[in-house]
Amino acid sequence: MSFLTLQGISKRYGDFTAIEQLDLTVERGEFLSLLGPSGCGKTTTLQMIAGFVTPSTGRITLDGRDITHERPEKRGIGVVFQSYALFPHMTVAGNVGFGLEMQKMKRAQRAERIAEALELVRLRGLDARYPKELSGGQRQRVAIARALAMQPELLLLDEPMSNLDAKLREEMHIELRAIQKRLGITTLLVTHDQVEAMTMSDRIAVMHRGTIAQLSTPFDAYERPATPFASTFLGRTNTLVGEVLRRNPRCAEVEVGGTMLHVPHEGREVAGAVNVYIRPEKVHLANGDARLMGRVTTRVFVGNQWLLVVETSLGKFHVAQPNHGAPPPEEGHEVGLAWTDDDLRVLTREGAHGNA
Ligand SMILES: Nc1ncnc2c1ncn2[C@@H]1O[C@H](COP(=O)(O)OP(=O)(O)OP(=O)(O)O)[C@@H](O)[C@H]1O
Ligand SMILES: [Mg+2]
Repeated sequence: MSFLTLQGISKRYGDFTAIEQLDLTVERGEFLSLLGPSGCGKTTTLQMIAGFVTPSTGRITLDGRDITHERPEKRGIGVVFQSYALFPHMTVAGNVGFGLEMQKMKRAQRAERIAEALELVRLRGLDARYPKELSGGQRQRVAIARALAMQPELLLLDEPMSNLDAKLREEMHIELRAIQKRLGITTLLVTHDQVEAMTMSDRIAVMHRGTIAQLSTPFDAYERPATPFASTFLGRTNTLVGEVLRRNPRCAEVEVGGTMLHVPHEGREVAGAVNVYIRPEKVHLANGDARLMGRVTTRVFVGNQWLLVVETSLGKFHVAQPNHGAPPPEEGHEVGLAWTDDDLRVLTREGAHGNA
C-alpha cells in the first residue's frame, strides 16, 4: 500500500466545491508537487492531509492507518504553512526547537538538532535573533528548519519559498531536494511555480479547479500534457486550432489554416476540432526549409536565449532561440519558421474551454 493515500476526497464550503472527488497516492520517500493556479485547491488539499480542514467526503490513510479524523498533532506530519507563523516572542532557536521541547527531548540533543536544521537552511549563527529581526526569506527558512528538525515521516510544504529571491530560491530547490533524499522524508509540496515543481519533484500533480488534471513525472507533464489546461499551464506553448481529417495508426492528419500537419496522437482518441500545441523552443528560424513565413513583432534578449513573437497566417508564434552568439533578425523583419511534426501535440478541443 502507498505511504499516503487520498480516496474520493471532496471539500465543500456551503454550495461551493473546493475539492472534487480527489484520488492521490504518494509513495514512501517520494517528492510530489501539487502545482496549479491560485484558488485551484492546493492549500485545502494539504490542510486536509495535515488535519486542519475536515474533508466533506473520502478517506485519508498514512502508512496504512486511517487518519481522516485524527487530530493534527497525532498525525506526526511536519507542515510549513503558506503563512509561516513563527512565534514572535521566541528566538530562532526557540522556534526551531519548539516541537522537540514538546516531545521532551533532552537539551543537548535538542541543541544538536536545532544546529543541524539551521545549517541545512543556511541560517547558522542567527539562533539568538527574534523573527522581527529577520528578513522575510530568512523567516521562511526558519519555518522550514522548524519542520525539518522534527524529522517527520511526512513533510507538507505550502509555498515555502515564495519570499526568497530568485537566486536563493534556485539554490534552496536543489538543497532541499538533496536533504529530502538523504533523510528519505516523503514530501508533498504545494506551489504555483512550475520551475520549482519541475526541479524538485519525482511526480507532479497538475491541479485545476479542485481536481487533478494530470499526474506524471515532470518530463511527461511538460512533454506529454494530458489536457488542454495542462498544456497551457505548464510552460509556454503555441496553440493552433485545427481539424482532424484522418487518424492513422501513429499520427493524426490535422488541417490547420490550409496546412496539413502530421501530429503524433500517442494512442489518444482525437477527432473533429482539436488544438495542436508546439513549444517555443521546438520552433526554429529557418531559411530554405521554412514551413511558414511570418514577421518578427517582438524580440527580447533574456541572456541564455532570445524570445521572439512572430506574426503568421496561423496566428502569433512564440519562438525561443538559444543564444548562440549572433542575434536573430530584428523586429519588423520577415522570417521563416520550421519545426518537426513529431514535436507537435494534439488534444481534442471539447475540454479546451478549461484554459482558465
Ligand atoms: N474556509 C473557506 N470558506 C470558503 N471557501 C474557501 C475556504 N477556504 C478556501 N476556500 C476556497 O476554496 C478554493 C481553494 O482554495 P485554496 O486555498 O485551496 O487555493 P490554493 O490553490 O491554495 O490557492 P493559492 O495559490 O492562492 O494559495 C478557493 O476558491 C477558496 O476561495
Ligand atoms: Mg494556497
